[in-house]
Amino acid sequence: MATDKTSLNLPKENLEAEDFLPILGTDYIELYVGNAKQAAYYYMSAWGFQPLAYSGLETGLKDKVSYVLQQDKIRLVLTSPLKSGGEINKHIEAHGDGVKVIALWVDDARKSYSETVSRGAKSYMEPKVLKDDEGEVVLSGIHTYGETVHIFVERKAYKGVFMPGYRSWDPYYKASDVGLKYIDHIVGNVGWNEMNKWCKFYAEVMGFAQLVSFDDKDISTEYTALMSKVMSNGNGRIKFPINEPASGRKKSQIEEFIDFYNGSGVQHMALSTDNIIETVSSLKARGVEFLTIPSSYYEDVLSRVGEIDEDLAPLKKLGILIDRDDEGYLLQIFTKPILDRPTMFIEIIQRKGAKSFGKGNFKALFQAIEREQESRGTL
Ligand code: FE2
Repeated sequence: MATDKTSLNLPKENLEAEDFLPILGTDYIELYVGNAKQAAYYYMSAWGFQPLAYSGLETGLKDKVSYVLQQDKIRLVLTSPLKSGGEINKHIEAHGDGVKVIALWVDDARKSYSETVSRGAKSYMEPKVLKDDEGEVVLSGIHTYGETVHIFVERKAYKGVFMPGYRSWDPYYKASDVGLKYIDHIVGNVGWNEMNKWCKFYAEVMGFAQLVSFDDKDISTEYTALMSKVMSNGNGRIKFPINEPASGRKKSQIEEFIDFYNGSGVQHMALSTDNIIETVSSLKARGVEFLTIPSSYYEDVLSRVGEIDEDLAPLKKLGILIDRDDEGYLLQIFTKPILDRPTMFIEIIQRKGAKSFGKGNFKALFQAIEREQESRGTL
């Protein structure tokens, strides 16, 4: 896909993503949560994640506990404080449960740190080496939007289950997986007029390029609007759309997020599957709630997107959306917020050639979100 940095006013030599890190993939997503033990059970039973590793009082920690879960290439870390008054407590007090760390798998965590900090990143963690009998992991970290951080993880000299400090976690309860494969993209919501600032950060500090941009004419309904740009790293494995609110007749879903999250943060993760009908059927059977789409959406969808491999009936029954671009089509569906605060949700996506993000579905999707906002009294 063509890159477009023109709207960022960057120097000409920055027209392509400059891969000085480079990033091999998403290493893990860490959420700070009020009760990691029960959150772990939710992600296992409802989402089919498998138990992988644990750290807490039993491994010598005094003040926090973490559960590590995995499904194919997707790794989640759920962390809760064990005492009052610490940094994790403050994060939960301010934001509710939410994503603290988007960890990026790199070849060289020291170089990733020096390259990004020298380009203006704010340091979160200077490079440090963790060792145990299985080898060593090097970590470093920088701040991004809100209180969210990126941790660079270098694990080429490590053969243990997750990283030093964790032991393998093998409870007798294991739910079957639901076919989720990898993280397709992670979306950040930022405040008014902050989208360009953070796109510039990803371009200048991380060497990312802009894939696409949507303005309020693309993404607006009768009531609400937002703007979005998608930043991607050089090899395309990392895609970070950044949203900001735009003014409409009523309150934008991005503003609702910012109000309840108390600032910028991760709005959704899109998780990829090779069979969205099977994955969503399993998730629904386990109680995951999705946005509902009116049946009128399906009356003319095939005339918009053309022929697809799947039967329309199961897509309609499950509420799965369809969109097409020059390279193919995609199937996608969005959960309702998975937390009490209307903040984070999860997208399930199956790509059949398409590399875009479902622009043709924005209207139906945002109308569905507005119906939910209305029921919360926040539209
Ligand atoms: Fe998405």
